Amino acid sequence: MKIVYFTVTGQTRRFIKKLGSEFESYEINPASEFPEITEPFVLITPTYEDAITEPVRDFLDYAENANYLKGIVGTGNRNFAQLFIFTAKDLAEEYDTPIIYAFEFNGTSKDVSNFKKAVKKLES
Ligand SMILES: Cc1cc2nc3c(=O)[nH]c(=O)nc-3n(C[C@H](O)[C@H](O)[C@H](O)COP(=O)(O)O)c2cc1C
Repeated sequence: MKIVYFTVTGQTRRFIKKLGSEFESYEINPASEFPEITEPFVLITPTYEDAITEPVRDFLDYAENANYLKGIVGTGNRNFAQLFIFTAKDLAEEYDTPIIYAFEFNGTSKDVSNFKKAVKKLES
């Protein structure tokens, strides 16, 4: 499974590094042209107001990318209470795709193993 992620302050990138070489990953970069995705992928998105996470929607709406979105992982901060991972929740509804996992900041080692399990489950 390919992993596509967005990051503003680098926490999600740190999580991706913890995954090792098991997954091919792509960081959404609003400054360069988006790639056309033609294989199933999981999206990891941090949580911010919509103006900040707009590149995530732009990426999904590019070419047929959204058709290959199989699962969404939300990252955030539980101090935001009801607003925890609202970006992932909104995208899950908008793109009719399940949230397969959630964690805070750059994730713990438990989050790494839970994430891998959740992706395996999606693949089976
Ligand atoms: C200005 C700002 C607003 C945030 N708002 C939320 C929020 O509403 N809900 C939430 O769960 N996390 C919120 N967060 C936490 C981030 O989503 C979280 O730290 C995430 O791990 C950042 O990932 P990144 O470093 O890859 O961008 C906010 C962080 C900042 C700096």
